[in-house]
Amino acid sequence: MMQGKKILLGVCGSIAAYKSAYLVRHLVKQGAEVKVILTPSAKDFISPLTLSTLSKNPVLSELFDEQSWTNHVMLGRWADVMLVAPASCNSIAKMANGLCDNLLLAVYLSATCPVVIAPAMDEDMWHHPSTKENIVKLQAFGNKIIPVEKGELASGLHGDGRMAEPESIAEFLQQNFFLTSNKGLSGKKALVTAGPTYEPIDPVRFIGNHSSGKMGWELAAELKKRGAEVILVSGPTQLAFADNGIKLIRVNTAEEMFEACTNVFDKADITIMAAAVADYTPEQKETEKIKKKEDGLTIKLTKTKDILQSLGTKKKKGQFLAGFALETNNEEANAIEKLKKKNADMIVLNSLNDTGAGFGHDTNKVTIFTSKGDKFIYETRSKTQVAKDIIDKITELYEV
Ligand code: CTP
Repeated sequence: MMQGKKILLGVCGSIAAYKSAYLVRHLVKQGAEVKVILTPSAKDFISPLTLSTLSKNPVLSELFDEQSWTNHVMLGRWADVMLVAPASCNSIAKMANGLCDNLLLAVYLSATCPVVIAPAMDEDMWHHPSTKENIVKLQAFGNKIIPVEKGELASGLHGDGRMAEPESIAEFLQQNFFLTSNKGLSGKKALVTAGPTYEPIDPVRFIGNHSSGKMGWELAAELKKRGAEVILVSGPTQLAFADNGIKLIRVNTAEEMFEACTNVFDKADITIMAAAVADYTPEQKETEKIKKKEDGLTIKLTKTKDILQSLGTKKKKGQFLAGFALETNNEEANAIEKLKKKNADMIVLNSLNDTGAGFGHDTNKVTIFTSKGDKFIYETRSKTQVAKDIIDKITELYEV
């Protein structure tokens, strides 16, 4: 809920401005107090009357009218958050370069509160180098950007550029600014997996993957910080173990990880499987080093046990089970399929198509899908922050 939160909504001239009516209604329903500023061209797309009726506040647009001057400085100070949605390509360019030829821009430049920008434009404009540069600049100034979504565009084309849906924008505000309390997890037991697994071929070779283990280790650290008793089952990683009370079980193979998790799962209140477990292992593990021969080499692989799926079948009431999905295509459909197939309560999707996401990076960009049918999109953030977001979501949505 956003009870009593003050949100200043700036609406720019874009077809997506029609969504600002839903957005205002949604924010007001959540208990927020909303004031709306329109750029002059936004009025061609949405009527001030609609927005003033929905926000229950006068809609502002001009720096001056015949009798008065709008105090843009005080508007920026009034708000807890300024949200520009939709932010058109033109307004983004002006904001990035400090131009000030309308009320919205004047308020933006004088705002002392955090600013969130939800762009909307056609795909080619969104991918233009100048827009990219402007977005980077705006982020460097400390503004938060809500990523555009893919879909049907005003031009009739299909691609990137749609403004995020009003519910996602409201959720973004909630996540980033209005989460008040994190329920403590003292007395709770948590199990986390992390890192890759190494499946031996012979004494010197193995099948592995590029997982660094960072995401799982951050999750374990966050759970520990909140008071949980944590067991971290980790595959081989280069990470230095901080002796912070977490019980670390080091394993190498998928089979070892399966054993370690199965042994402790029934006592865990929260289980998060962040490991990149090998799906296949060599059928034959040679005891001597395989010697090079003239012709090629075929290694027969057998399937490993799916740990998450196995724990999903054992899950009892009161236990919370989360998994990850690392995808390169059909990301959303695959993540939802894994959620169902593995009987998880939550799947955290990261796509290798997103810059700054996945293996090796210190950052990650995730989308959370829950068994309740919710979807939460997050921007690229440090893995430490992503771990906080994930635990916040678990404690917020589920009785754990
Ligand atoms: N997982 C697991 N045991 C396995 C394989 C995966 O516990 N043998 C878990 C991972 O830790 C992750 C989730 O299942 O939480 C999804 O892993 P991912 O590699 O994305 O999917 P897979 O189920 O292996 O399917 P695919 O590789 O075909 O995408």
